Amino acid sequence: MLKIAVCVSGGGTNLQAIIDAIDSKKITNAEISVVISNNKNAYALERAKKHGIEAICISPKDFENRDEFNRSFLEKLDSYHVDLVVLAGFLVVIPKAMIEKYQNKIINIHPSLIPSFCGKGYYGLKVHEGVLSRGVKVTGATVHFVDEGTDTGPIILQKAVEVQEGDTPEVLQRRVMEQAEWQIMPKAIDLIANGKVSVCDRCVHIAE
Ligand code: GAR
Repeated sequence: MLKIAVCVSGGGTNLQAIIDAIDSKKITNAEISVVISNNKNAYALERAKKHGIEAICISPKDFENRDEFNRSFLEKLDSYHVDLVVLAGFLVVIPKAMIEKYQNKIINIHPSLIPSFCGKGYYGLKVHEGVLSRGVKVTGATVHFVDEGTDTGPIILQKAVEVQEGDTPEVLQRRVMEQAEWQIMPKAIDLIANGKVSVCDRCVHIAE
């Protein structure tokens, strides 16, 4: 059974998609051991508690500096002995020590087709503003392993979504979530939990 930590910062709709997929057995061989937020007001924490999942907050605000926060965060994460860390809208830069320790064990969902609209500053709605302001016709979402760069790790799954005339960033964000994020994140976890995902030369191979 793959033990998962899900890291969140906000609403937690991707967390909900994972919880629902485990309940409906779209994800097999996996369980969520803990949900960790950097923001005590994140609704994602409520979603976890409602499902009887341990939910904790570790906020940078409670530490003297970033190094202290990073150290504490990693210590707490380590204490759960998870096999996979899922960044589901986690808006914190992952410290180098954690990336080294959890190599190919951290996955992230990004609301665009990487390598478009990725890198520093491209969080949530900003991606969609960029997509719309440049007249892009197709966007989507990407699940990838996390490496030392920003949105540069090996790509596991991507799904395209059409941009429609008159879309606002909010409307497009919702469509990308519904049609892409909430599909490919649970799918990626299921593939990993069932031993179907391997990484070689920074490329992901998915077994049939
Ligand atoms: C999602 O759209 C996710 O792709 C994005 O934050 C949102 C979280 O929503 N992540 C990033 O932009 C990371 N670069 P949620 O809390 O409802 O799952």
